Amino acid sequence: MGKGLIITIDGPSGVGKTTVAKELAKILDFKYIDTGAMYRALALAVKRDLVTSDKALTKLAYSLPSRVDFKDDLVYLDNEDVTGAIRTEEIGMMASLISQRLEVREALWQWQRALAQGKAIFEGRDMGTVVFPDAFIKFYLTATAKVRAERRLRQLKEMGRNIDFDEIYQKILRRDEQDKMRPLAPLKPAPDAIIIDTTCIEADKVVDKMLDYILSRMQEVNLYE
Ligand code: DC
Repeated sequence: MGKGLIITIDGPSGVGKTTVAKELAKILDFKYIDTGAMYRALALAVKRDLVTSDKALTKLAYSLPSRVDFKDDLVYLDNEDVTGAIRTEEIGMMASLISQRLEVREALWQWQRALAQGKAIFEGRDMGTVVFPDAFIKFYLTATAKVRAERRLRQLKEMGRNIDFDEIYQKILRRDEQDKMRPLAPLKPAPDAIIIDTTCIEADKVVDKMLDYILSRMQEVNLYE
């Protein structure tokens, strides 16, 4: 693992990880790394490069750090802004499928650990369980599938996409099942993760709660070091 001060935030899709992770990163002046965007960028590259073999997929996964850039909230693939293009349900589902492969995960784990320098917040599915087992503090966010579907629907509407609630809800259930049931690095809380149910809490209150935990952990470390 890298030498940084790492905060991990894991949880299912639509739970609000990105919103709170970005806000926390801003408040604490930490780097923010969205590992879901890495899997999504890989899925988009697979689609564009017409990758069909396992060997080509592995090669592509290892080449990703030289093809993908994260700058000012935007994601670039081969210097093209793909921030919107990676956010479709199709790419999300593809990302969830290819992320089940060991070779793909090993490539992305290597990239994620290489980014763990300084102070950083890593958001994903297996940050606390697999990638950064020694993280400074680990969070796991949950919310009912219905509330997550409502949030996702709102987000997609804001992006000008017109999808009905039931379609989103079914997709969320399918992706949950896929991410939780996979044998490799399944979505689950680390044993030492702080679990926060965001079903009935607005994002700013979730951030406040997380800040309380982080600040008291920081105090603990200063007191007892
Ligand atoms: O967080 P997201 O919805 O953008 O992630 C897209 C998919 O990528 C998700 O369904 C599973 C996969 N993923 C993963 O397997 N491990 C991660 N750390 C992050 C995402």
